[in-house]
Amino acid sequence: MSIHINAKKDEIAPLVLLPGDPLRAKFIAENFLEDAQCYNTVRNMYGFTGTYNGTRVSVQGTGMGIPSISIYVNELYNDYGVQKAVRIGTAGSIQKDVKLRDLVLAVSASTDSAANTHRFGGRTFAPSAGFSLLHAAFHAAEKLTAANAAEGAASVRIHAGAVFTSDMFYNDVPDVWKLWARYGILAVEMETAELYTLAAKYGREALALLTISDSLVSGESTSSAEREISFRLMMQTALEAITTP
Ligand code: HPA
Repeated sequence: MSIHINAKKDEIAPLVLLPGDPLRAKFIAENFLEDAQCYNTVRNMYGFTGTYNGTRVSVQGTGMGIPSISIYVNELYNDYGVQKAVRIGTAGSIQKDVKLRDLVLAVSASTDSAANTHRFGGRTFAPSAGFSLLHAAFHAAEKLTAANAAEGAASVRIHAGAVFTSDMFYNDVPDVWKLWARYGILAVEMETAELYTLAAKYGREALALLTISDSLVSGESTSSAEREISFRLMMQTALEAITTP
């Protein structure tokens, strides 16, 4: 047991998927894993362990933002010996050619959070994805999108690049994203910089997969039906990548 997770050590698999929403963790366990059992109900931040193609996989809600994901990922790496963690979430596009429903593989995560400024005594750190997870995810996503296209499904583009982890969903400087866009960042979200920093700290691997739910460029956002299609691709990519030996 850790402070925020009431599971026995062996109830959590070494491979963990991390949705922000605990009800999404439940949905994933019920729809994508076999024989899933709930191991955590503290604060309703559900966690489940089941199997995917015979490999044990857990799925743990993290909540929104750096302080919340930091608590769960610290405990998963430090108290439960988790080896690989894949965040599955949403992001807002800040580039014209990154469209609604596209899938972004986060190669690195810049941030406006002070967490790493404090951690590194005012120095900067470059939080980056684990390469073997990134490599496996990119190939899985390409294969899955080709298979979907052959079946006539709506196309979803895959992007691999930099994202921005913000502490603020509602920013007092509404156009600040344009600065990050000018430096080639693809999308904005709220957790990845901390996940990648903790993976580096504990010597483990992490990746964030993000479906584009809204665009700061066009002001559009996805309907729940549209989100369903890209969510499936993200889930299958995450499960294939995390179970790649
Ligand atoms: N900003 C921050 N986080 C997000 C966004 C956004 O526009 N969309 C989805 N997560």
